[in-house]
Amino acid sequence: MKDYLFPKDFWWGSASSATQMEGAANKDGKGKNIWDHWYEIEPNRFFKKIGPSETSQFYARYKEDIALMKELGHNSFRFSISWSRLIPTGEGEVNPKAVQFYNQVMDELWNQGIEPFVNLYHFDMPFELQEKGGWESREVVKAYVKYAETCFDLFGDRVKKWFTHNEPIVPVENQYLYGHHYPALCNFQKCVQAGFHSILASAIAIRAYHKRNLGGKIGIILNLTPSYPRSQHPADVEAAKIADAFFNRSFLDPSVKGTFPSELVDILKKEGFMPHIEDGDITLIKENTVDLLGINYYQPRRVKAKENLFNPNAPFMPERYFDYHDMPGKKMNPYRGWEIYEKGIYDILMNVKENYGNIECFISENGMGVENETRFLNEEGMIEDDYRIEFYEEHLKWVHQAIKEGSNVKGFHVWTFIDNWSWLNAYKNRYGLVSVDLDKDCKRTVKKSGYWFKKLAVTGLI
Ligand code: BG6
Repeated sequence: MKDYLFPKDFWWGSASSATQMEGAANKDGKGKNIWDHWYEIEPNRFFKKIGPSETSQFYARYKEDIALMKELGHNSFRFSISWSRLIPTGEGEVNPKAVQFYNQVMDELWNQGIEPFVNLYHFDMPFELQEKGGWESREVVKAYVKYAETCFDLFGDRVKKWFTHNEPIVPVENQYLYGHHYPALCNFQKCVQAGFHSILASAIAIRAYHKRNLGGKIGIILNLTPSYPRSQHPADVEAAKIADAFFNRSFLDPSVKGTFPSELVDILKKEGFMPHIEDGDITLIKENTVDLLGINYYQPRRVKAKENLFNPNAPFMPERYFDYHDMPGKKMNPYRGWEIYEKGIYDILMNVKENYGNIECFISENGMGVENETRFLNEEGMIEDDYRIEFYEEHLKWVHQAIKEGSNVKGFHVWTFIDNWSWLNAYKNRYGLVSVDLDKDCKRTVKKSGYWFKKLAVTGLI
């Protein structure tokens, strides 16, 4: 047992995002974001047509929820500020009701001995700003920086761990390539521009934060998906390297090292998709890198060399350079359709140690979404989610191994505390340590994994 004892001051907690758990999307002056808008015009995009307006009720029940977090051993909790709640049209006037809400949440967290980790952007572009082009537009970069500065000035006295974005590649690829987020375009040029602007916005926000000398740290949260080649054949290895440049290093390198991977830049140049870059942008990115890295890990990426020639007339996709490899016998989470590969978390941490200066980092999300969990209700009305406990334990063993080998990993946040609304799957797959009963006014009930988590956080032992 002693083999899996974690450091005393390890950050144990969970992660969440405003749109997914606050609810009250039309209340107290909140403006519309792209999710509110998309649901209005295309509710069929969402599982069982459940939209973002009344998600998990954290806005109304934050006190009860924070008390439960304390009860379940949290020493830290990550949430995001809803940009369109704080600044309803994305730029301009600040909404005093939002300031009051976030002040209360932060104060309540500290009262319960839980450190707030605050993320600024979690997929929720204010609708008016999307109308101006969203991340494609330089104007939106300016509006984001203003929003970030407003947050630092309002809450910087109580928040000592800030994050500029959660998984910035996800909105970019889903808005501009794969059709999962509004406006669901398929345009690689816009995708690259939006990606570049989110990196630039992050760097400018980091500069603004550091200038203020508020005594905290600022980082970014990235979803890292280690790319494994089907075989050691040079063509497979090359394919995995390119996939890694597109999906990991595209944001990891500029965020931590201030540079872009040359493999990616070469492809963008060759294919004619370089973004518009203004004088000073590259220096700014170089000089304003993160203090801290959040790593979200759910699944690996298995890759092989292309089997067929691509259609040169089709819209450009990164998949022109590799194919996905459906590895026989892989362990799966069938509900989400994601492979479970626990060692991936260790490979990421070792990569960060060896190639990214062993920057201070933590696992900012890891979790398992499962459908129809009421199947596992016991006589006392508790969901016995042993599969989730096993999922976490197996990942944590690899985190522990990484610590033994010198990784600078400081904590582990699960996704998520209470069941919440997923971007497209709504309430289909549940991730929480605590269940939410949608038929009973979102009644909260701790799952078996919640009690398991408490023991883990209190003893530091698995
Ligand atoms: C992460 C996101 O990518 O994965 C969360 O930061 C998201 O917002 C989580 O909810 C799980 O993914 P999904 O699509 O099943 O909700």
